[in-house]
Order: sequence, then structure tokens, then C-alpha cells
Amino acid sequence: MTERFASALDLASRRRPSQPVLCRRPHAIIDQAKAFIGTFPGEVLYAVKCNDDAIVLAALAQAGLRTFDVASLGEMATVAAAVEDAQLYFMHPVKPPEAIAAAYSRFGVRCFALDHPDELAKIRSVLGRIDDLELMVRVAVPTGTAVCELGGKFGAPLDMAASLLREAAEGGARPGLTFHVGSQCMSPGAYANAVRIAAQAARQAGVRPWAIDVGGGFPSAYVGLSPQPLADYVAEVLQAMAAAGLSGVALRAEPGRALAASGASALVRVELRKEDALYLNDGVYGTLAELTFPELVLPTRLVRPFGPHSQEDRDFRFFGPTCDSLDAAEGPFRLPSDIRTGDWIEVGQVGAYGVVLSTGFNGLETATAVTLDDPPLLPLPGHVVSSVPTSARADRPRRVA
Ligand SMILES: Cc1ncc(COP(=O)(O)O)c(C=O)c1O
Repeated sequence: MTERFASALDLASRRRPSQPVLCRRPHAIIDQAKAFIGTFPGEVLYAVKCNDDAIVLAALAQAGLRTFDVASLGEMATVAAAVEDAQLYFMHPVKPPEAIAAAYSRFGVRCFALDHPDELAKIRSVLGRIDDLELMVRVAVPTGTAVCELGGKFGAPLDMAASLLREAAEGGARPGLTFHVGSQCMSPGAYANAVRIAAQAARQAGVRPWAIDVGGGFPSAYVGLSPQPLADYVAEVLQAMAAAGLSGVALRAEPGRALAASGASALVRVELRKEDALYLNDGVYGTLAELTFPELVLPTRLVRPFGPHSQEDRDFRFFGPTCDSLDAAEGPFRLPSDIRTGDWIEVGQVGAYGVVLSTGFNGLETATAVTLDDPPLLPLPGHVVSSVPTSARADRPRRVA
């Protein structure tokens, strides 16, 4: 059991932490997962790579989620240990043969992604058959609509995707199509475009897909980035499916960030202030890994439990605690102008791709974890409709101290 506090302010005043603290909010994950499941008209697979913390997995299970997109045997073992009746989908397009074998025999996986004929040959050779599998062909889709691009690494060109789909169907597998538009995709239309490309591959193959998996990429909220509601994304997907004659085909999504980002913040301490530069005790090698994306400005608030602070805000830059010059972020981060050495800052939206990427680089301690009961710094408009006080719905960082 982790220690529980009402808020970061409560934590700072009672513990005065000298090390960074990961502040989990499982209630936010439950809210987000329920909202996503309630809005998305298909199966929702959580992308475990985003945050494989057992508390996150338990919160998702509490929200009713049982299906997981996994990328490795390690993730399979983690999910199997945390969620008894979990169903696993091996959606990494390039897999070691040993992982394919163990996924099938040890974890009961029957759904595999692929984007190349040699991967199909590998799956066939390892398992000796494909007629009891779902084979999801990952098709390449255009980049340019997401804050964190994934383009170029995975995805078969259209002709190859079509022939893979045909080969999967001819081998007796249930053939499906999948894609990934990039993480933090701010454009619902990007999904419609990707569905059109997938539909074109299906037409070319002469195969009606068993399922279309629209991948991850659904956005969370960041400073200056207020996504459209999930319903708008769903509408685009459904319209594109209908236009392509694919209504009724099973639909899936693999959200990571949209479910996990608001589920944690970090309480960090200012170790030194130099004008507008704040040197923190955590950074890109710790819970603040996403500071490396300049467009993702994480929400911040001063946590000063004792004494008043200035009502005037100004822009700050952050530097992390390691000697690496990449361990920095321009922000700008709006904080009270009199912030000083020894103050704490709560940095929100670190629940996705933060904790999982933490290292002990430079001999620095990784954050200890606690649970907080208050709402996240930036709830996602349109996704969370309950348990968030009106005052917390602003699209701006807030201060508590
Ligand atoms: C195959 C796959 N599915 C889902 C995701 C989750 O993406 P996001 O966190 O943007 O929702 C990723 C992230 O890299 C991925 O590679």
C-alpha cells in the first residue's frame, strides 16, 4: 500500500520530501477509462507500454477494462499478474520468435500484429499454423497530425498491406487492419484518413477485414492543447468506415496516453533558481521524460505549504538534475514570480510515458510513489464528466498554495 494524501500540498506540508515523488491518481484513470469505454463503440485495448504500473492496471480493471495491447513478454507477465482474466493482444509488428511462442503457449495470445511478409513467415514457422489466429496487418499512414510522431518505423505500404491481408486470409487466419496515427493526435480527421487507407488495402486484397484497430494516439490535455472530445474522433472513424462499406466490422482502439496521462503528477523541488531558470530534482531521465517534446507543455503549480506567495505569474524554464544538457525544457512554465530554492512544484500529466521511462542516470534516485485524492491538474474536457469540481476544469495550470 502506498501512502495516501489529500493533495500535493498536504504531501509537501506533512513530508517535506527531499526526493521527487510520483503522485498517482488512480481515480482519474478509472474516470478516463470509463469515459473512453462508454464512448468508443468497440473493444478498448490499453497500450501497456504507456504505463505498466500495477496500480494503473488495477484501476483500469476496476473500470471494466480487460483487454491489453502488449509489446513484450515482460508486459504480458506484468498484466497477467495484475489482472486475472486479462486478454492480451501482441500488437508489436516486429517480435522475437521466442516471444511469439511464449505469448501463444503461456499467455494464450491469439492476436498478432505484423507489417512485413517475413514477420508473417516467422509467425507461421514458430507456431506451425495461423488458422487459429487473428493477424492484424499494420498499414502505414501519413504523419504530420500528431504531436509525437511514430511515422517511419512501422507500417506496410499499401500494396504490401493488401498482399499480407490476402495471405493471412488464405492461410485461414482472421485478417484485420491496424495503424497508428502518432501519439497526441489533435486531428480527428487523421483517423478518418487512416481508415480510408486501411479500407483501400482491404479493397485491393479483396478481403473483408475481421476487425479494424484504430490504434492509439487519442490525446490528453496539456497547456495550450485542448483536444476535441473523444466523440468527435469516434464520429470521424464511424463515418469513414460507413463510407468504405465497412460498417459492422469489429472496431478496436489501443489508447495509452488518453487513459493514463492524467493519472499521475510529480512533486519536484526547486534546488536552485537562476533568474527564469529553475533547477529541479527531477527531469527527463525521471518522471518528467515527456519534457523532451517541446509542444507538450506540462501543467505546473507552486506548492508552498508555509507562507504566502506572489499573485503575479511569469514564465520559467526547467533544468533537470542530471549533467546532460538534454535534461531541460523551455516550457514556458507559468509560476508565481517569487518562486525560490526550496519550493515544491507539482507537475501534472506525467502518467503516460513518464514513470516507465525513469532511469537512475547519474546515480539519482527514482521517485517514490504516493496516492493523491484530489483531481488532476488538467482534466480532459469532454472525457471526464464526473468527480471534477468546476473550478478544476480550466484549461490552465492552477496554483494551490
Ligand atoms: C502499437 C501501439 N498501440 C498503441 C500505442 C499507444 O499510443 P498512445 O499512447 O498515443 O495512445 C502505441 C504507442 O506507441 C503503439 O505503439
